Amino acid sequence: MKKLGVITSGGDAPGMNAAVRGTVRAAIGRGVKVCGFLHGYRGIIGEEIWEMDSKSVGGIISQGGTVLRTARSEEFRTKEGRDQAMEILRENEVEGLVVIGGDGSLTGARTLYEEYGYPVVGVPGSIDNDISGTDFSVGFDTAVNTALEAIDKIRDTAYSHERVFVVEVMGRMNGFIALEVALASGAEAVLIPEVPFSLLHICENLKQARGRGKRSSIIVVAEGAARASDIKEFIQRNTGFEARYIVLGHMQRGGSPTSFDRVLALRLGALAANRLISGYQGEMVGMEGGKLVAHPLSYVLSTERMIDPEKLLLVDVMAQ
Ligand code: F6P
Repeated sequence: MKKLGVITSGGDAPGMNAAVRGTVRAAIGRGVKVCGFLHGYRGIIGEEIWEMDSKSVGGIISQGGTVLRTARSEEFRTKEGRDQAMEILRENEVEGLVVIGGDGSLTGARTLYEEYGYPVVGVPGSIDNDISGTDFSVGFDTAVNTALEAIDKIRDTAYSHERVFVVEVMGRMNGFIALEVALASGAEAVLIPEVPFSLLHICENLKQARGRGKRSSIIVVAEGAARASDIKEFIQRNTGFEARYIVLGHMQRGGSPTSFDRVLALRLGALAANRLISGYQGEMVGMEGGKLVAHPLSYVLSTERMIDPEKLLLVDVMAQ
């Protein structure tokens, strides 16, 4: 292989820059040229090429976001769009692609591989941590710590005013961030899309807790489970306690990556480049049980990552 391409695609995640750095420097170290495409698949179709050298990724390891920019491409979902992307890749003699992104982006990579036999290797990059075949996706650890820092501050106000605070965290389809943050912040309850919940039951628990002398509470809700504003209204109406809500939103996607995310991203980016250069394709790299692994994209994308029920139970036990 003489030249590989790299994109970041879908929602940005802290650590994507470290993954790009890992990919670029590992490839250059093996004598392979690297070109980045800006704005993910959209930038391949639009030929937004950045010929990268070692210096291109200098000083980015500590930066959130992605220097390659990102986008969610509608055009790439069409056959015409993908044909065009393939044409650009061939014209520019890009012999394989490292795709850094979440399940939508990895699905795009799988399509390139299965429809055109084009060599791709994916790197899981998403704050949601909902990708199978890896214990952690790049960005999750930072997002959890960002949300946690905010909740620790909110707890001060909740305590001082003796209020219930409902905190909405990201996760449209799943509650991995919510559950981790709920445990780490000592939240009184967590609501996630995967598991049905009873708001009346939560109100009962809040009242009982007040009976035991607990004057303030934090409820963490994943954005896909319910609206924080609705939950706040319901709680206020059914308990009589003063309540407030806050939506943390996109601040969870930004910021300097934690050391965990930086090292994870660097290792996965480098591994993806090395495997692509060595002839592996149609797979995603990841980390399981502390070890670097690779799985076929077909497996990764057909296997649902499940919430750990033990963690969910622990939130309730800890709230007693
Ligand atoms: O997939 C990452 C994520 O942040 C989800 O948690 C969230 O629901 C979604 O992206 C938001 O997407 P957008 O940035 O397009 O609003």
